[in-house]
Amino acid sequence: MCGIVGYVGYRRVVPVVLGGLKRLEYRGYDSAGIVFIQDGELKKYRSKGKLQNLENSMKEALGAPSHIGLGHTRWATHGAPTTENAHPHSDCTGELVVVHNGIIENYHSLRNELIEKGHTFASETDTEVLAHLIEEYLDGDLRAAVTKALSRVEGSYALGVLWTGMPDTLIAARNHSPLVLGVHEEEGGFMASDIPPLLPYTDQIIFLDDEELAVLTSNTHKIYSLKSGKEVTKEIQTISWNAAMAEKGGYKHFMLKEIYEQPQAIIDTVSGRINPETGSVDLPEMNLTEDDLANIDRIFLIACGTSWHAALVAKYWIERWAKIPVEVDIASEFRYRKLLIDERVLTVAISQSGETADTLAGVRLAKDLGSKIVTICNVVGSTMTREAHGTVYTHAGPEIGVASTKSFTSQLAALFLFTLYLAEKRETMEQEQRLLLGKELIRVANIIEEELPAMQDEIKKLIESFYDSRDFLFVGRGLNFPIALEGALKLKEISYIHAEGYASGELKHGPIALIDKDMPILGLTPKDSVYQKSISNVEEIKARQGRLILIGTRGDEQLKTITDDVLYLPEVHEELNPILYTIPAQLLAYEIASRRGCDVDQPRNLAKSVTVE
Ligand code: AGP
Repeated sequence: MCGIVGYVGYRRVVPVVLGGLKRLEYRGYDSAGIVFIQDGELKKYRSKGKLQNLENSMKEALGAPSHIGLGHTRWATHGAPTTENAHPHSDCTGELVVVHNGIIENYHSLRNELIEKGHTFASETDTEVLAHLIEEYLDGDLRAAVTKALSRVEGSYALGVLWTGMPDTLIAARNHSPLVLGVHEEEGGFMASDIPPLLPYTDQIIFLDDEELAVLTSNTHKIYSLKSGKEVTKEIQTISWNAAMAEKGGYKHFMLKEIYEQPQAIIDTVSGRINPETGSVDLPEMNLTEDDLANIDRIFLIACGTSWHAALVAKYWIERWAKIPVEVDIASEFRYRKLLIDERVLTVAISQSGETADTLAGVRLAKDLGSKIVTICNVVGSTMTREAHGTVYTHAGPEIGVASTKSFTSQLAALFLFTLYLAEKRETMEQEQRLLLGKELIRVANIIEEELPAMQDEIKKLIESFYDSRDFLFVGRGLNFPIALEGALKLKEISYIHAEGYASGELKHGPIALIDKDMPILGLTPKDSVYQKSISNVEEIKARQGRLILIGTRGDEQLKTITDDVLYLPEVHEELNPILYTIPAQLLAYEIASRRGCDVDQPRNLAKSVTVE
């Protein structure tokens, strides 16, 4: 997830683009760059780290007499967060530049092809391929060259292109990554990944759709279909957001925005990693050799908080499909127990931030004992990824809300891929099964996208009768037990209600004593292989007058005979229920906290990244 800003108009370009990037810093902030045309030449500035570094490095250019330019703030996916990898990226002539948000899935093969044709690359990014590919096709007509280049590209992109050969024109294009245009007669034309950069200048917005390309000048905008090449007419919409609303994409809180970003985060995490024909999984940054994999006889999963819940789900998956015994540890416990670890153990550290002190300490300990280390991480170049032998990155983009949401479901997606990968290498799963499960993962992301708005409406109504409860229980079995734990953690951290998650079968060993008519209990009861057992457990709750809310499979009428409060979800392969059933648990916590007037994005006593022991 990166941020793009482009401007062509009557103002001096640098303050417009820099100001726009500041409003997009939430989308990524490991490096940034700006380019503009002055006296027929491109002037390019790039810096590693926060935007402030870029601003400091280009003080003399702030007032440059240029009226056309592009900017980018980066959240690294391919290539470390360095100045060389910062956007904009240039072609070989240095006369054409590109800024990009998204992932070019076939960049390896395109890069090799272009190198063979004599192109020289200056970065490790997938984006640079686009600059050289456009150069390859450029013959005086920039729109034609961009269209042709994009027809070769697989993956997602929001793109801005600038060429000295057409010094009054900006090209924008989009496919599966957001891009909006702003237009104003007296100001000029704008492009950006999100609306906030445009708001100081215009409220007239055009939302580009997938596979569309725009040509912007100071006083014209034309939009074309990338497929047919024909011009398309787009509606201009008037936006009435203020700046704060716009930063959150119109959502009340970052957490809610991030809940809604989950389908995209899952798709971005899976994107380019499963071959749709063979079901073969490609995780190049994992850096484990065939020998390393053959030698593994146990896996330790270590993590904290929400990431630990992802580990608990992964244990079921890995043991079932890759047939390797798995131990799961809370990192703060792992680091102080007697560890029976040697070089046959693979340690997998799961961390959104890659900086959590306890998990990092666990990584160092396991490494000292000879274990290979793989990290599942969302932040490129974070300490954990540098210390691990290999990484499987989640592509969730920056998460601002302290409560982990999209980072959790994309960790699950990455761990599912990791399981398929191990199962493929160790030949413990049929190819057909791998193909089926790979496709199902994408289907689940699409289902979440479709179901989210209605699910939120239903939950909003549902919570009215128990949002002010003092306590709350979450129960689930098998793969859904960790989701019960996650639901309880979400609720307690943002609403301050005391909440616990239990394995349903464990209730009768003590917690059932808590149940009375004032105790709300959320039961996860999908039609899976432990369905009948789960039903018996929720019947036990009903018999003690517990206030039951059930989440189950659409069409399962039996649930309605147990309680009136049932939330239905579509049936998916049971292995993937944990991803789907997380969404209502997050929404429930969100709606309750919001109803209670809590500070959802910055709950008391918590920090986003816990870098102390
Ligand atoms: C949960 O919502 C929290 N943000 C917290 O439990 C978090 O998952 C934990 O601190 C671990 O963080 P990490 O994934 O960055 O290592």
